[in-house]
Amino acid sequence: MAITAAICFGSPNPKPIACAAAADAAVINPLISRPRSLTLHRHCWNPSLVAGAPSPRSFAVRCSLSSRPDYIPNLIPDHAYVRIFDTTLRDGEQSPGATMTSSEKITVARLLSRLGVDIIEAGFPASSPDDLEAVRSIAMEVGNKPAEDGHLPVICGLARCNKKDIDAAWEAVRHARRPRVHTFIATSEIHMQHKLRKTREEVVRIAREMVGYVRRLGCEDIEFSPEDAGRSDREFLYHVLEEVIKAGATTVNIPDTVGYTIPHEFGQLISDIKANTRGIENAIISTHCQNDLGLATANTLAGASAGARQLEVTVNGIGERAGNASLEEVVMAIRCRKQTMGGLYTGINTKHINMASKMVAEYSGLHVQPHKAIVGANAFSHESGIHQDGMLKFKGTYEIISPDDIGLSRSNESGIVLGKLSGRHALKSKLTELGYDISGKELDDVFKRFKEIAEKKKRVSDDDIEALISNEIFQPKVIWSLHDLQVTSGTLGLSTATVKLIDSEGVERIACSVGTGPVHAAYEAVNNIVQVRVTLMEYSLNSVTEGIDAVATTRVLIRADHNGHTSTHALTGETLPRTFSGSGADMDVVVSSVRAYISALNKMLGFREISRNEIPSPEAVVA
Ligand code: KIV
Repeated sequence: MAITAAICFGSPNPKPIACAAAADAAVINPLISRPRSLTLHRHCWNPSLVAGAPSPRSFAVRCSLSSRPDYIPNLIPDHAYVRIFDTTLRDGEQSPGATMTSSEKITVARLLSRLGVDIIEAGFPASSPDDLEAVRSIAMEVGNKPAEDGHLPVICGLARCNKKDIDAAWEAVRHARRPRVHTFIATSEIHMQHKLRKTREEVVRIAREMVGYVRRLGCEDIEFSPEDAGRSDREFLYHVLEEVIKAGATTVNIPDTVGYTIPHEFGQLISDIKANTRGIENAIISTHCQNDLGLATANTLAGASAGARQLEVTVNGIGERAGNASLEEVVMAIRCRKQTMGGLYTGINTKHINMASKMVAEYSGLHVQPHKAIVGANAFSHESGIHQDGMLKFKGTYEIISPDDIGLSRSNESGIVLGKLSGRHALKSKLTELGYDISGKELDDVFKRFKEIAEKKKRVSDDDIEALISNEIFQPKVIWSLHDLQVTSGTLGLSTATVKLIDSEGVERIACSVGTGPVHAAYEAVNNIVQVRVTLMEYSLNSVTEGIDAVATTRVLIRADHNGHTSTHALTGETLPRTFSGSGADMDVVVSSVRAYISALNKMLGFREISRNEIPSPEAVVA
């Protein structure tokens, strides 16, 4: 049960005016968390989570019975509460190769909602019709269906300071119960002179007019960002912020767009804005820190200590160039060092961090380095004898947070070791232990893949199973699947490959080709069947475990050779070709490589370009 409160947004400082009880829609919690011993594993989501029933936009907000304060755009009733604004689907997705399909974006948004993210920046709707449509679908579903704890995130769309972008953003987010438009314009001399070619006066006028325009469209939750604030003149910055707050901005976000500042400097910037901007008490101050100098998390924490109460982050820290402040680092630092951070807290349910990391890595194709803080494969492993000894005596000697806190469990609690005689039941128990709640066809598919490997390998390790399962469940919609593959290669001449693929209607196609090596030959044979020309931008092959019989995982990045798939970059305005990632796993390196290639092709083929006049009406989307 949760409480629903009607909010009057007529004034720039809205206050709750009434409350009524409302039953929460029940949703299945797919996440299972179980402690185990020392090797660590990822937890999982249930890909078949229910879609939310969209409802007309209203100003009702839901206050969960948790400690999260009520949502009022420009006011946080508890001074210690810090809002987490996740921009994985906007800033993160715009990084090279990170293209996600609409259905992947919706799945990520559902998990972000369960994670307890306060605001989901779902995309940049003016970028392309596909982006608009993806944001709109997220607004309709995730923006209307509270998570199991009653939390309902704000759904936000980015727009440059022009009417066309703002109209697209509003059209996309207005279907959410808590819609937000985020508009931005650069305020540093270097950007105004060389990028915008506008004077200070023009920039202030545009910012004020465009915030006013968003307000007149009926949006009462407005975020404004002075792009490159980290390098902007202070007095000018205060002036711009004063003007946009007067025009109706409810959050003022301070981006360190090029990741130039260092922590004490960024903290001072936030303190100065707080002290010198007239009307700042009517808005929430936010941070948006890029990671060019590796300081994004540190700067974000300095900003929070100085009074920012919204922090912009991405899962795994993905984003432009060196990325953004990472959600997991910022949230866990605030949690772990709460007293030092002045008692600050967030509404994040940290148990879902590990699965969010895994899902974003698979969907974006941007893999997490092993030594990445919090979510890297080595983040909780203790190799050295001294560390292991200390850990066995008392975990606190070398561990400042428990892996359980982020949904990681310690390995082999059940002691189940899988081999070729293991059946579906044993596999299902192992998957449950690893945190994956799958059944039906998905379990059948994973079991089939498991058997193929177990026939060849005496002992199938947890890492092998993890590689297999993420290769199965994080795959895009299947348009083509691999049925058979035969290659010959060596020193006696060109390699040859014969490939049999099955299309979505079950029709088999066979093709042969030659190549300079077995992977080249096999990819050419696939091309002969699929008949789309792409460029292979990146290819990498890794073994999952030690040993000559290890499972190999392959990652590829492809780009369509025709000009079809493009998007407009939010900050530079450039039209860029999209690239698509794919992954595959198998004990045979060529099979693994072909699986990865087909996965990337499926993602690209499933990412159908829609033209503006093809965008379905909200009613059609609901149906
Ligand atoms: O880096 C940046 O300045 C941005 C803004 C749009 C917030 O992404």
